[in-house]
Amino acid sequence: MRDAAAWSRIRTEDRAHLEPWEPSGEGSWNSRHHISSWPTLCSGLKSEARKGHMLPMVIEVDGEFCGQITTGNIVRGALRSAWIGYWVSKEVNGKGVATAALALGLDHCFGPVGLHRVEATVRPENLASQAVLRNVGFREEGLLYKYLDVDGEWRDHKLVAITSGEVQGTVVERLVRAGRAAWA
Ligand code: ACO
Repeated sequence: MRDAAAWSRIRTEDRAHLEPWEPSGEGSWNSRHHISSWPTLCSGLKSEARKGHMLPMVIEVDGEFCGQITTGNIVRGALRSAWIGYWVSKEVNGKGVATAALALGLDHCFGPVGLHRVEATVRPENLASQAVLRNVGFREEGLLYKYLDVDGEWRDHKLVAITSGEVQGTVVERLVRAGRAAWA
């Protein structure tokens, strides 16, 4: 709950950086990201987490809130799968933060959470996010036609996925081997 001010400030200031890639929502961008919207959003995420459907996490750099990484639609049983999505502030963009967060998130999903498959969807125009996904080992599975209402239109998305058996060691170790994780 203490992240309300940082979340609202970043989401409002970075609208142009975030909006082209994010699901559309009810009401204006500014009202959806007003500081007063955070408690409801945060409680909703916590409630889904308690039910085991979601893993909502904050991304911090040196203790400062700078984004979110969320694992959703967690299905157990014979599927043991989920989707993952993320955003980071413009201020820390291009410094390997999303790549690091995604690698740590995947290792959590394949380790303690016990998932077998994690998938993600990304707009073909979102070259930065595709690089992030590729660098941690996601592979393309297909194109989802008019898949999601993003930035006010139905947008095609690439479906990418990774399964636990494709990871040698951990995802973070893969980044280290590739020289992409000075922080590790
Ligand atoms: N064209 C091609 N590659 C690019 C471009 C571009 N225009 N811009 C950046 N890149 C590459 C970088 O070179 C880097 O790859 P490299 O390490 O091979 O050089 C990679 O994209 C970026 O890696 P990071 O620095 O780890 O990523 P960053 O912390 O900057 O975060 C992110 C990237 C998450 C896409 C951020 O810009 C963001 O939050 N954007 C807005 C929201 C968003 O798009 N979220 C993702 C939606 S899709 C999903 O969640 C699965």
